[in-house]
Amino acid sequence: MDKLIIEGGARLKGEVNISGSKNASLPIMAAALLSDEPCVIKNVPDLRDMHLMLKILRALGAEAEFDKGKVTICAKKLKSYTAPYNLVSKMRASFCVLGPLVGRLKKARVSLPGGCIIGVRPVDLHLKGLQRLNVAVSVSGGYVNASVKDLKGGSIYLGGEFGSSVLATANVMMAAVLAKGKTLIENAACEPEVADLANFLNKMGAKITGQGSPNIEIEGVRSLGGAEHKVIPDRIEAGTFIMASIITRGSIVIKGAVYQHLSVLIDKLEEAGVTVEKNDGYIYTKSSRNKFKPVNITTLPYPGFPTDMQAQFMSLMSVTPGVSVVTEKIYPDRFMHVAELNRMGAHIQKEGPHAIISGVKALSGAPVMASDLRASAALVLAGLVAKGRTEISRIYHLDRGYELIEAKLQKLGARIWREKE
Ligand code: UD1
Repeated sequence: MDKLIIEGGARLKGEVNISGSKNASLPIMAAALLSDEPCVIKNVPDLRDMHLMLKILRALGAEAEFDKGKVTICAKKLKSYTAPYNLVSKMRASFCVLGPLVGRLKKARVSLPGGCIIGVRPVDLHLKGLQRLNVAVSVSGGYVNASVKDLKGGSIYLGGEFGSSVLATANVMMAAVLAKGKTLIENAACEPEVADLANFLNKMGAKITGQGSPNIEIEGVRSLGGAEHKVIPDRIEAGTFIMASIITRGSIVIKGAVYQHLSVLIDKLEEAGVTVEKNDGYIYTKSSRNKFKPVNITTLPYPGFPTDMQAQFMSLMSVTPGVSVVTEKIYPDRFMHVAELNRMGAHIQKEGPHAIISGVKALSGAPVMASDLRASAALVLAGLVAKGRTEISRIYHLDRGYELIEAKLQKLGARIWREKE
């Protein structure tokens, strides 16, 4: 296993290119199962999760290749409708093969993904949505079994206790494109990754409108063809580099990001005293951390503050004088990074779904452990600003979501490298 070593204190400067979105690429790759013609997906980041999705698609019988950010998938002959436990348990997002398998083969057997470190993560909304499309769904032996004779469009309210669901919207949308008649999804997830998936499906011949809003309408079609698509930039990677710039009092030009996807983060940063320059194609932030004010955040579905930026924002607030409160409304248990940040000298107290952060003057480098993807990013940010040496173990989590993270940071002047544990 690898660990990351960071000697903190360098101010990061220069330009960084943002990779394609992980969370958009995964369901788009799964959507290629809906056609027997080849699909070409560009700007796909070279991450462990992508290779796992390719493995799942191949296990189902698709031909799938990855070459320098370009994924080619041809699902002409599918030989299986089962996504097995050993693959699905490694990556929750692989559950989004359920919708396309039901659409294309009218049956699917997909392992339940199980919980993960950030919480229980049920799939009730995915199943409810498919049932409204006339699909018979049962759960046995840890698998979801779904079958349908004729997919029928329906009206589906897809909200749960924590609001809309990204992958449930994706799954229902991918089955509904081949249903007879019209489907209306209410309280659909508005995330840009869902809109990107809908745009890809429309290129394949689907008839989807309203993507990006809570009301998505789908007019079913008989079949879908192949398509070519360029995935949107990764807003969470962009947000993380914005944090790296501010926390190190640096000046990084974030290239290729869509600033409209980061409106809430930019708004919070402006409230904290950061000047944000944004344009088509780049984001640049200027701040003196000395003048930085603490701000409170509450995570919410898009366009609210993303839960996937919560941990990184907490690192920034840890070194911002004053008190701030972070409230987690999507995954109330997503606070594994708190104990690790406190080991580096942060003052964070957890109270139910809230974390109360009293900013300190400085963090000190320490050996810490990454618990999940975004918690790992928070520890990297903390390590960049901490005095001395930070060693982050279990960084395989980080490799699931950040392409070339240490190479990108090194280019910006960070003293960061990888060693074998
Ligand atoms: C996606 C993202 C993940 C992000 C999350 C929330 C991908 C691959 N992953 O995950 O990075 O953190 O959105 O923005 O895109 N829920 C239910 N029932 C369900 C489904 C979800 O109650 O059937 C709850 C979840 O427990 C959570 C909330 O709904 O509290 C939102 O989860 P959801 O949007 O489904 O997350 P994912 O799509 O799994």
